[in-house]
Amino acid sequence: MNRTRHDGPLIVGAGLAGLSAALEAARAGAKVLVVTPEPLLNACSSAWAQGGMAAALTAVDSAELHARDTEAAGAGLVEPGATRALTGAGRETVEWLTALGAPFDRDADGGFVVSLEAAHSVARVARVGGDGAGRAILSAVVAAVRAEKLIEVWDDARLKGLLQDEAGRVVGAVVARGGRAVEITATAVVLATGGAGGLFAATTTPSALKGEGMALAAWAGAEILDPEFVQFHPTAIDVGLDPAPLATEALRGEGARLIDGEGRFLLGPEDDADLKPRDVVARAVHAARIDGRGAFLDARTAIGEAFPHEFPAVFAACMRSGLDPRVSPIPVMAACHYHMGGIAADADGRTTVAGLYAVGECAATGVHGANRLASNSLLEAAAFGRRAGRAVVGETGGGRALPVETAPDLPEAALAELRAGMTDHAGVVRTADGLTGLIALIDRLEGQYGPAAALLAARLIVQGALDRRESRGGHYRADYPQTNAVADHTRVRATRVVALE
Ligand code: SIN
Repeated sequence: MNRTRHDGPLIVGAGLAGLSAALEAARAGAKVLVVTPEPLLNACSSAWAQGGMAAALTAVDSAELHARDTEAAGAGLVEPGATRALTGAGRETVEWLTALGAPFDRDADGGFVVSLEAAHSVARVARVGGDGAGRAILSAVVAAVRAEKLIEVWDDARLKGLLQDEAGRVVGAVVARGGRAVEITATAVVLATGGAGGLFAATTTPSALKGEGMALAAWAGAEILDPEFVQFHPTAIDVGLDPAPLATEALRGEGARLIDGEGRFLLGPEDDADLKPRDVVARAVHAARIDGRGAFLDARTAIGEAFPHEFPAVFAACMRSGLDPRVSPIPVMAACHYHMGGIAADADGRTTVAGLYAVGECAATGVHGANRLASNSLLEAAAFGRRAGRAVVGETGGGRALPVETAPDLPEAALAELRAGMTDHAGVVRTADGLTGLIALIDRLEGQYGPAAALLAARLIVQGALDRRESRGGHYRADYPQTNAVADHTRVRATRVVALE
């Protein structure tokens, strides 16, 4: 084991949340170490975001209206304070990113180009390069990070465990780097490890993201909030790729329609039928596939020849699979897209464990509730990432790190079995039987391979789904289709402290 002492915050993950935190901490004078397993811009969900960043930017919009739409989508579990902190930071965040060089699309008068997505009462999603928002925004932030002398990046280091002192404070992390374990002590740790799409066979997110940050935080004693709430995107392009390319909801905002194999509307003929909340649309797509009707996104009339220019990323993904969306409907399926639940954290990223912060998708700050409003995630990543970066500067570290236990990784075959089970039984439609079977699968895999972090992450999601005997937002129980009158959070604490090898 190599040991290194870093005199500043350690940030784990280099998506928009992690790098926004890094920039703000450095600009406040802190020496920052960012660790990530891949070169910057690779393998993080932020770079794959297509639609854009939700923010109240137009005369017909307001931060309060944005907050109310966020609350309505979140189905009773959205925290009003955190949400207003988020939506109130919309314009400022877009302007901060613009100042870093993010080329938000502008109209002829210099205003931001905004598009309409599901469950937004007005067009509010600021676009960048048509459907290339995530990569364009993150590229600007990466350039700023590279120019910042106080930030050091290790882009070949994978998180293996969290270090704690005798009082339970997180005082650093163990990473695997160059075939060796490296113990890094730091003033505080910010987890920006992304979501858990890699636990599902059908996902639109990088499959390397398996909820391991959430599992390690849980093992360190952090409270986990609402882990059962996973969002399934209704229009993942179904061309046999893993992960599945996304066909952004903005296509439906522009009039593309969901149809079955016979050309019948999946959600009805009304113009706005396909912009119902994402969980409703995902279930309709799922049902059409299960009963053999098939599900397709038809952009031929609404977008047609403008497709390559308006949606270059989706167009390229289709064409790579030999599918021309100007002449053929796009086959689609529902796929895991976002984890609303995660490490309980406030708007500054503070978790329930001293020295440990969480930002971005791995965090549950209460702004998404049971169902995230489309395109709120990039805003949360940048706005709350920045806040965490400022907050963490005040941390001065803790005591001596205790030795960490180790736990195994999951072999590929076991992971494939888990992913298939999660998509089949913890996916768009869940039942007690399916979820109970999944718990048995997780028990068996844990017995065979030991307590891998991916297994704990899956267990948290599945147990939460089993215990929630109602349907709400992204969580749908075929055996409990009703929504309870009172909305309750799920709060979980694990008891074991363990790190991965
Ligand atoms: C999309 O562009 O459809 C996805 C946007 C989001 O998930 O926020």
